[in-house]
Amino acid sequence: MELVSIVTEKLLGIGVYDYYDVSCDHLLVPIKDMLLSLCINVVMSVVGFSAVIRTIPLVSSMFIDAGLFGRDLCKKERDKKVPESMGMVSGSVFLITMFLFLGVPFGHHFINRSSPFPHAVFAEYLTSLLSICCMLFLGFADDVLNLKWRYKLVLPTLASLPLLMVYYINMGSTTVVVPKPLRAWIGLTLNIGPLYYIYMSMLAVFCTNAINIYAGINGLESGQAIVISASVATFNLVELGCYQSKFHYFSLCLIIPFLATSLGLYFYNRYPAKAFVGDTYTYFAGMTFAVVAIIGHFSKTVLLFFLPQIFNFLYSTPQLFHFVPCPRHRLPRYNPDSDKLEPSLAEFKTNAVRKPVLSVLRILSRFGFVRLKEGLGEDGDMCTINNLTLINLALLKLGPQNEGTLTSILLLLQVLSSCLAFFIRYPLADLFF
Ligand code: UD1
Ligand code: MG
Repeated sequence: MELVSIVTEKLLGIGVYDYYDVSCDHLLVPIKDMLLSLCINVVMSVVGFSAVIRTIPLVSSMFIDAGLFGRDLCKKERDKKVPESMGMVSGSVFLITMFLFLGVPFGHHFINRSSPFPHAVFAEYLTSLLSICCMLFLGFADDVLNLKWRYKLVLPTLASLPLLMVYYINMGSTTVVVPKPLRAWIGLTLNIGPLYYIYMSMLAVFCTNAINIYAGINGLESGQAIVISASVATFNLVELGCYQSKFHYFSLCLIIPFLATSLGLYFYNRYPAKAFVGDTYTYFAGMTFAVVAIIGHFSKTVLLFFLPQIFNFLYSTPQLFHFVPCPRHRLPRYNPDSDKLEPSLAEFKTNAVRKPVLSVLRILSRFGFVRLKEGLGEDGDMCTINNLTLINLALLKLGPQNEGTLTSILLLLQVLSSCLAFFIRYPLADLFF
């Protein structure tokens, strides 16, 4: 009832801002309590890590028996069944850890009952878990049912709705700081209102799908999520001493157990993979990043940690939007003679692609961004192009690579991108904001 009246009041424009402003003093978490609960969080995360390490071998055969397995397409022995959807194990352990940890950040309110309980923050915290839980479930549904791409776009939007609703009720900021060169015209800040909510739900769609399409070699899915979550945790720690510390504190409470459980998963997913993470994990990981960015109020900064994924998405667009044919799998091609990976190819008739698209591909080919071969086939009307992923582009530039080496190179690239992200966020951003 209270919730309904708050929404109604807000829609009618009656000011409830002071009462529910999450920046009120009584919601501030004392630094001593923050550090104590973060220490408890780290201990619980370590337990979560060992739970994942122990559980995956126990349930692997159960998953295979239930038909949840995949073939490792970049190996000689393609017949071997590798358990799929192991993200379900790390996701479940993550959620159990978070449920057990639930009371800890609010512990001082239970002991010191004179201070008012922060219902608004608690609701935000609970809906974060609800959104992540929904995405874990939807990812699992995708693994089992092989959903169509249109559902993959709609489902993350739906899963983010509970969190956005609570963000709205809690008077979450929709104001952005205007860059210095534009301030003379627009002012110091700009309230973009509903556009900010659209941006946040798009963020959930982007994060989930961006990780899912930057995949296909052992350890890349879980490895990239580990680097991104470690970067987010570092950013939160740096910001912990600043004026928005409580937002970063709640983000840390979620990202540390995520990082720990993902490390457990990586242990089995790394080359040579004993387990595949499945869309269960890629969706769960993407949603976790979107959620921590929303509750941590750094939904723009988070994209800086996705630089390889953004590049991979942009590079993939001709295939994603079907300007160029897109095969079911775009992962690299395994060469059994050299035991190395090579760029995989998409083959199509030259006249099946529109002329302007072909012209763009020819220009990209001249600059070495794609490998386009024309005039193939008996009639010379066929052409091939490397599948447009960052993985294949790396192989194009570096030459054939062993799968494990390629994953290490791409994860190193992810780490270097995070370093660049910190450079953009701090020294460089200070010049513009
Ligand atoms: C996305 C990519 C697809 C890529 C696939 C690999 C797009 C549009 N889709 O599809 O190109 O091939 O991910 O995950 O870019 N696999 C391996 N080795 C690995 C990981 C996966 O061989 O290290 C294979 C296994 O057969 C596994 C399957 O990929 O069963 C999983 O593919 P799935 O996640 O269902 O593919 P999508 O997410 O639909
Ligand atoms: Mg996938």
